[in-house]
Amino acid sequence: MENTLFGIENLDVYVVMGILIVFGLLEVISGQLKRSNRTASDWIQEVGSMLVLSVMIKPLIVFAVFTIGTSLWSETGLMLSGRSLWLTLPFYLLIDDVLQYWYHRSAHEYEFLWKLHRPHHQAEEMGFFISYRNAALYYLLMPNIWWVGTFVFLGGGKAVAIGLILKQLIIIGSHSTLKWDAPLYKIKALNPVMTFLERIIVTPAFHYAHHGKSKKDSISDPNGNFGNMFSIWDQFFGSAVFTRKYPTDLGLENDPKEHWTAAYLYPILASDNPNSEISRGYKKKNTITMSPQMVDLKQGEKYLWCQCGKSKNQPFCDGSHHGSKHKPLLFEAKRTGPARLCNCKLTKAGPFCDDAHLG
Ligand code: FES
Repeated sequence: MENTLFGIENLDVYVVMGILIVFGLLEVISGQLKRSNRTASDWIQEVGSMLVLSVMIKPLIVFAVFTIGTSLWSETGLMLSGRSLWLTLPFYLLIDDVLQYWYHRSAHEYEFLWKLHRPHHQAEEMGFFISYRNAALYYLLMPNIWWVGTFVFLGGGKAVAIGLILKQLIIIGSHSTLKWDAPLYKIKALNPVMTFLERIIVTPAFHYAHHGKSKKDSISDPNGNFGNMFSIWDQFFGSAVFTRKYPTDLGLENDPKEHWTAAYLYPILASDNPNSEISRGYKKKNTITMSPQMVDLKQGEKYLWCQCGKSKNQPFCDGSHHGSKHKPLLFEAKRTGPARLCNCKLTKAGPFCDDAHLG
């Protein structure tokens, strides 16, 4: 298995480790780590997941691809070797990133995958280690890791090595507390450059919005910005929300914290908290009623109206829509006083009742 870059064996591994060390040191020097409220459980989950991913899951998948590839398609192996990097690198990166976009988006829209990905969103603060905070099975099923194995099998090892370095730089940068883009937004002369850049790659501001707890802050959209390296997929597939602000309230609403073993090893292990989504037999109940709900609204205040019909706090969203294609509707109250909000979710005038429940 070829793994040399510019004549140096395992250079990609060293560079990725170097990126991690540099970001780690910068977070320490800037005092971010000192201010961190992460618990021991958070650290075990994040550092442990990164190590298992690097030394077990990725090599295992590459080994599996090589074993299957050489026994079934031995003549296809190395078909990319000798091809120009100008061709193989963009080809590798674009396929890799579009696969990850759809996998990540599916992890927000389908219940089982969401349970594997939600540890990533349980983190209430950012930091480069968050990049690796997912259940083990999430990584085993990740299509772009299988793509890495396939591309290396086809002889595109160099493109993979360079691609991984570029990708890690952007992904770790977008999770880091350093927010490298923030000072650049303040320089007026750089505005066109930054506008161009954020339309191509995922910036910290773009990705922080994805980690925000709720849309109520008018910055976050936990149901958007699914891109990893490139923001182009979010623009193509209608999930992009551009912002240059950073949410301060991160994590999940109504999050019953689980022990890291259950979060990391789900579904082999499950939570013993019956309120946890990853407890055995947990099912989100339908909370729709065939009558509107009277609520008191305050002028100028923002509310999230539940559209999924599963919230335990109807007619408002409580985050129960995660793991489905539904998302809440953000609205601002125009006046103070009682309002009739729809709770059958059939209204055409959401969030207000239009008597569709009578039809
Ligand atoms: S709980 Fe958020 S849309 Fe229903």
